Amino acid sequence: MQIISDIQPLREIRRQWQLEGKIIAFVPTMGNLHEGHLKLVKEARKQADIVVVSIFVNPMQFGANEDLAAYPRTLKQDCQALQELNVDLVFTPKAQDIYPRGLEQQTFVEVPGLSYMICGASRPGHFRGVATIVCKLFNMVQPNHAFFGEKDFQQVQVIKAMVTDLSMNLQVHSVPTARAEDGLALSSRNGYLSDEQRQLAPNIYRIMNLIADHIELGRRDYSALIEQYSAELEQLGFQTDYIDIRSASSLLPPGVEDSQLVILVAAFLGTTRLIDNMTVSLSN
Ligand code: PAF
Repeated sequence: MQIISDIQPLREIRRQWQLEGKIIAFVPTMGNLHEGHLKLVKEARKQADIVVVSIFVNPMQFGANEDLAAYPRTLKQDCQALQELNVDLVFTPKAQDIYPRGLEQQTFVEVPGLSYMICGASRPGHFRGVATIVCKLFNMVQPNHAFFGEKDFQQVQVIKAMVTDLSMNLQVHSVPTARAEDGLALSSRNGYLSDEQRQLAPNIYRIMNLIADHIELGRRDYSALIEQYSAELEQLGFQTDYIDIRSASSLLPPGVEDSQLVILVAAFLGTTRLIDNMTVSLSN
């Protein structure tokens, strides 16, 4: 497994793969890898001759008051785990090479609409940062396939829209969320939770299941469901950022034509912001 930090040697290796007619799958990450990331790598392996993983904690997608400095960095363990999965190349660029002119003057990619709603409303600029880094990484790695976790449901939608809008020549795959046995979605941010908070955290999954049951049983008074379960999360000790129920295809409020909805939750336990989602099929 090669570990490369500089862009030029990556381009040279990429050119060689191109000459050899290899199919490249790419898994962009911010490191601190858990089973969820490894699941993406395993899916990537099924689609391609070559698997590339990037590890880069992208400053552009963090807000001023967010956890950029504290974000866990575990490069050595990450590389060991990737080696065991026979990853071909790990790309670990440095911030000064990714943003040589600084963040203020950086050209950006923004997917309007989708980037401003739900998580984008709570974290202004976040999806601009995500779209920009993913676009840059795609330009560097030039993958045929790219893999993202469904836990970041809105992120996947933003990236798919970017790929379509900018006519990028690759296929974006989303992989189901990896969960702990008690239902908590795996996330690098779970490491911030105290023991007590960790016990509480699976309530997000429990509550999404309850909302999904109501919808499956025919309830369509979404605002009332949202209000009821936001209050329940608050009572348990969460600070609910939002619970939302949207069209799974457009992320707009549900319309009569929608056959699949998504329940999206973001809630704080202390200073840790957890997100999760669940799709629900409508049969009537
Ligand atoms: O999902 C993540 O870890 C990040 O948002 C991504 C896609 C690697 C971009 O920095």
